[in-house]
Amino acid sequence: MKVSDRTHGVEYAIRDITTYARKYRATGKDIIYLNIGDPVKFDFKTPDHIKKALIDAVTRDENYYTDSEGLPELREAIVDKESEKGLDVTEEDVIVTNGVSEGLDMTMASIVDPNTEVLMPGPYYPPYASYAKFYGGKPVEFKLHQDGRPDLEDLRSKITHRSRAICIISPNNPTGEVFDRKSLRQLIDIATEHDLYVICDEIYDKIVFDSQFTGIGKVAKDAPVILLNGFSKAYLMTGWRCGYICLNSRSKKLAGLREDIPKLARVRIASNLPVQIAAVQALKGPQSHIPRMVGKLRERRDYVVKRLNGMGIHCKVPHGAFYVFPKIDLGTRWRDDQHFVIDLLNNTGVLTVHGSGFGATYGSGHFRIVYLPPEEMLEEAMDRLERFLHK
Ligand SMILES: Cc1ncc(COP(=O)(O)O)c(C=O)c1O
Repeated sequence: MKVSDRTHGVEYAIRDITTYARKYRATGKDIIYLNIGDPVKFDFKTPDHIKKALIDAVTRDENYYTDSEGLPELREAIVDKESEKGLDVTEEDVIVTNGVSEGLDMTMASIVDPNTEVLMPGPYYPPYASYAKFYGGKPVEFKLHQDGRPDLEDLRSKITHRSRAICIISPNNPTGEVFDRKSLRQLIDIATEHDLYVICDEIYDKIVFDSQFTGIGKVAKDAPVILLNGFSKAYLMTGWRCGYICLNSRSKKLAGLREDIPKLARVRIASNLPVQIAAVQALKGPQSHIPRMVGKLRERRDYVVKRLNGMGIHCKVPHGAFYVFPKIDLGTRWRDDQHFVIDLLNNTGVLTVHGSGFGATYGSGHFRIVYLPPEEMLEEAMDRLERFLHK
C-alpha cells in the first residue's frame, strides 16, 4: 500500500539506536543505557507531593476532558514562572501540551510551509529537524563557536528569503551549552531584522551548573518569541507528558499563531487533566529536589568529563542539562560515528547515541553520553569504554 512521503525524513537517533540494542539483548547480555535523557529511569524520582497530587486528582474523579488550551490554574502558574524569568506573557498566550514534543510539533505545524527553512544550532535536538521536515520544510544548521556562542556571521550567511524561524535550545541537547544574555540578544536582533520567528526551548532552565541561565524573555522585547518548556526534566515527570507553549504577549507579529495554535490544541481535544493538576503542584510546591538533583548531576558530569579526558577523548565541559558530546578519533577503525556507537555496544554493552543523529554538519564524528546514572554505573561504563578504546 502507498504510504505518505512526508514521514520519510522523520528520524530520532536517540530511540532509533535501540533497534541495535534489542538485537544485542537477545543474545542474553545486559546493557548500560546511556542513550535516553530520562532522569526518572535512574535515581531521580518524581517528588512525593507531585505524585500525591496526581493520585488525589484521579481519586477525586478529575478524569474528564479539560479546556483545550489547558487547565486555567496551570496556565496561571506557568505565567508566574515564565514572568519571573523575564517573559511578558498572559494566560491567553499559554497553551498546555502533551510534553514539549507536542508543543514543538504544533509550532512547526503552524509556521512551516513546503520549502521554508528553519535555522537551528548545530548540533541540535533531533525532533527540531524531524518536525521541520515532516511539514515540508528544511532544517538549516548554523555554527557555534568553540566556546558555545552562536557564530553570527555564519547564521547571517544562511538566512535566505525562505527562512522562517531561528531555533534556540538553551541549555542545549546534546552539548549542554548555555547561551549568555548577549548571544540571546544578538539572536533576537537578527530575527527582528529578518522577520523570523524565534522558537526557544528552555526545558533545561533549572539544570544549569556553573554559568548563569538567562531566559529569552529577558531580551525578547516585542520579538515574535515562541517559548517551549515543560515538566519532564526539572520536575521528573517524563512519563506523564506535560509541557507548554508561551507566546510573547508583547509581540503583535504572533497574531496568526494566536489563532492557529489553539486550533491545533482543540483538534487534539486536551492535554491530560490529572497530570495538569499535579503540574500546578510541581510549580507551586516545594522545589528542594532541584538543587539536590543539580548537585548530583554536577558531580556526575565532572566524573565523566575527567574520565573521558583521561582516555584522551576531547570533551568540552557542558554547563547545563545532562549530556556530554565528545569527539571521536575515528582513525581507520570506524567508518563513521554510527559505526563507532554500534561497535561500542556490541563489544561492551554500553549504549550511546551517534552524533550525526544530532545533525550531519556539526554532529558527525561525535557521540552523546547521558550522565544521569549513579557513579558506580558511570564508572563501569567508563571502564568498559576505556578497555574498548585500548583494544
Ligand atoms: C531540548 C529538548 N526539548 C524537548 C525534549 C522533550 O521534552 P518532553 O518530554 O517535554 O516532550 C527533550 C527531551 O530530551 C529535549 O532534550
